[in-house]
Amino acid sequence: MPENIAKFLDHHYPILITAEQIQEKVQELARQLSADYAGKCPVFIGVLNGSFLFFADLLRHVTIDCEVDFIKISSYGEAVRTSGVVKVRKEIDCHIEGRHVIVVEDIIDSGLSVAFLEKKLSELKPVSLKFVSLLVKEGTAQVEYPCHYAGFRIPNRFVVGYGLDYAQKLRNLPAIYVLD
Ligand code: IMP
Ligand code: MG
Repeated sequence: MPENIAKFLDHHYPILITAEQIQEKVQELARQLSADYAGKCPVFIGVLNGSFLFFADLLRHVTIDCEVDFIKISSYGEAVRTSGVVKVRKEIDCHIEGRHVIVVEDIIDSGLSVAFLEKKLSELKPVSLKFVSLLVKEGTAQVEYPCHYAGFRIPNRFVVGYGLDYAQKLRNLPAIYVLD
C-alpha cells in the first residue's frame, strides 16, 4: 500500500490523466448531454462513492433542467479486483418511472456493476436509461454492458484519484494516477 497521498502529489507515481484533461472531457460530456436531453429534464443518478467528483463537475456544466439522486453499490470490498457480487448499500429515493435516467459512473472494468444497475433500474420503468462513465478499461469486460457516453478508454491498470480509491483512500487526488 502506498503510504500516503503526498507520494502521489510529489509525482512518485505516474499520472495517467491530468486534472486539466479531465476538466476538458467533463465539459465536452456535459455539452453533449445538454444537447441530447434538451427539453427533457432527466434524472442524473450518481453511483457512490467513486463518481462523486465527476458527478459534481459534470452537473455544474449541464445547462438543462435536471434532477439528481444517488445509489451506492459495492463489489470490491477492500480488494483491487471485483468480487463479482454487486451489493446495493443505498437505494435511490426518487421515482424514475416515466423519466429519462442517466447513470453516472467513475469507471467500468468488468462491466458487472453497470450491467447490474441496468437490470435493476430498468425494472422501475424509466422512459430511457443511459450510462455515462468517465473511464472505461479496455479488454476487461466479463459481461456485455451498456455505456452510451465514455470519457477516456484506458489500459487495464489499477488507477486512483478523482473519486477512485484504493482501500477507500486517494479519492481526493485531482488527477488520475496509475497505482500498479
Ligand atoms: P466493474 O463492476 O468491474 O465494472 O467495476 C466497477 C467499479 O469498480 C467501479 O465503479 C469502481 O468503483 C471500481 N473500480 C474498477 N476499476 C478500478 C480501478 O482501477 N481503480 C479504482 N476502482 C476501480
Ligand atoms: Mg464506482
